[in-house]
Amino acid sequence: MHAVSQTYKIPISGKIMTQFNTGKMPSTNTDVPVSGTFSHTKYRPFPTLNKTDRRWPSQTITEAPIWCAVDLRDGNQALIEPMNVKQKQRMWALLVKLGFKEIEIGFPSASQEDFDFCRWLIEHKQIPQDVTIQVLVQAREALIERTYEALEGAERAIIHVYNSTSPVQRQKVFKLDKAGIVDIARKGAQKVKDEAKKRPNTHWRFEYSPESFSSTEIDFAIEVCNAVIGVWQPSPEHKAIINLPATVECATPNVFADQVETFCDRVNQRDSIIVSLHTHNDRGCAIAAAELGLMAGADRIEGTLMGNGERTGNMDNVTLAMNLYSQGIDPKLNLSNADEITKIVSECTQINTHPRHPWVGELVYTAFSGSHQDAIKKCLAQQQESEPWDVAYLPLDPKDLGRDYQSVIRVNSQSGKGGVAYILEQDFGLHLPRWLQIEASRKVQEHAEQSKSEVSGKEIWNIIKQSFMTNAGGHELLSYHLDRHEEHEAISAELLIGDQTINVKGQGDGALSAFCTALENSLNRRIEIIHYDQHALGEGSNANAVAYVQAKVGNIRYCGIAKNKDILSANFNAILACVNQAKNEDLNISSVA
Ligand code: KIV
Ligand code: ZN
Repeated sequence: MHAVSQTYKIPISGKIMTQFNTGKMPSTNTDVPVSGTFSHTKYRPFPTLNKTDRRWPSQTITEAPIWCAVDLRDGNQALIEPMNVKQKQRMWALLVKLGFKEIEIGFPSASQEDFDFCRWLIEHKQIPQDVTIQVLVQAREALIERTYEALEGAERAIIHVYNSTSPVQRQKVFKLDKAGIVDIARKGAQKVKDEAKKRPNTHWRFEYSPESFSSTEIDFAIEVCNAVIGVWQPSPEHKAIINLPATVECATPNVFADQVETFCDRVNQRDSIIVSLHTHNDRGCAIAAAELGLMAGADRIEGTLMGNGERTGNMDNVTLAMNLYSQGIDPKLNLSNADEITKIVSECTQINTHPRHPWVGELVYTAFSGSHQDAIKKCLAQQQESEPWDVAYLPLDPKDLGRDYQSVIRVNSQSGKGGVAYILEQDFGLHLPRWLQIEASRKVQEHAEQSKSEVSGKEIWNIIKQSFMTNAGGHELLSYHLDRHEEHEAISAELLIGDQTINVKGQGDGALSAFCTALENSLNRRIEIIHYDQHALGEGSNANAVAYVQAKVGNIRYCGIAKNKDILSANFNAILACVNQAKNEDLNISSVA
């Protein structure tokens, strides 16, 4: 094989196709050499409907659709290693726990494993009263018979029968004309009905899918479905499900919505059918297509957890449900334990969840950037429980999905003071004053730049301790005595320096300035407090208070932090932490008699 150089021309200005068959490609004038066979000329634009009465754009979704989970069939069918019995049982238990009431459990006529799983569910009475199992079968008589065998003894079941209807399937796969395709559908529907009649103890429901609906001419899709409806004769009390698959997603979601709305308008007995959607994600728009399809009049949705499925996957039920939830709509699924869902799904499918997966990915509530962290921190501080959620950069309260705020803000070299402050506050109960936030984040950033990696909460704490809580300079407060006078305060303090105990004394107009004077009296440096702050610490800490001090020792500013049961001791120790940082300046403290 050798590389071939081709010329690929890029259109100067973008062009929106309104009707597909213009026959012309966009005008081009920029030459870009392309190697290999990468050539868009191989493809045609997808035909759109010439629809002038569309109403779906002005609709909004106000309630959850009827959900159907197809993880155990469409999802399973796409796996490199299909689920084993244990994995299927786990997936089933999860789907039931999340609240799915309709669950497609397999294709029993095509797979012995699916057949056995179906039998296990029925014989071991695993199906809750409010859950209906659904099984898929091609519109072929023998397969339909086998499907009913798999369902023997079930209290309720949906028989989902399908055949392909698109031109490529008709012409190249089945080599049948339209009448031949309608005939398959009609005969399949009849067989489904006949077999059901033989088993009156089960409450049967029927579903039909014109496979590749979205690639089928709309008139023909409606014709086939009407043929099936004609056989089944559903009623408003006993509806049939007509499922409209975008088996391969070939167009923008608005095209699908046009197809769904047209279908809903023109299908027979609309009041006796449940219009279901089954979108795939080839263009990355399965969710958008499903949402627009709901706006266009559909009632039901088939999808999988995390969107596992053929090729780029099925429509992701989790994302769609969370999209509704985040708009204040009850999704009628309980997704409150996102980590359990992603764990079970990835263990069953052996596909890991992308860390940026909508709503449930590990990183989707995490901000690394300083400005985002700052905004999140400010909004979280103002968010009232009784008020609607309104936090910048967080479209949802992570706690709703069982996540904590701990992982919301994570720190790397791009993070700013807000992030470091947030972690110190959340994990260690420290409310750093602003002047210290700047210093603290500078230290953490230096570390992140050197390590070229994320800095964990524990590492941040160590940096803070080493930088601002040091007694490495050797000065430690052992005890103090304070005399309060009307005009001033006088202090006498005992310090440990290395293995030496010394006494320092001083006066000032407050305890802190008295302590500084006492140190000054023993040092050859001036000590001036620039900022100080303090607060009580939450319960569970063995210290009750924390103090923050910024002090000038000589000509240099240092920041110190100290915790103690006694607030004054905390302040004195924070001053000593500043002094200790100045140790390189060769300070000498001498005892004052
Ligand atoms: O994608 C599809 O068309 C299907 C049908 C069998 C419903 O899975
Ligand atoms: Zn499918």
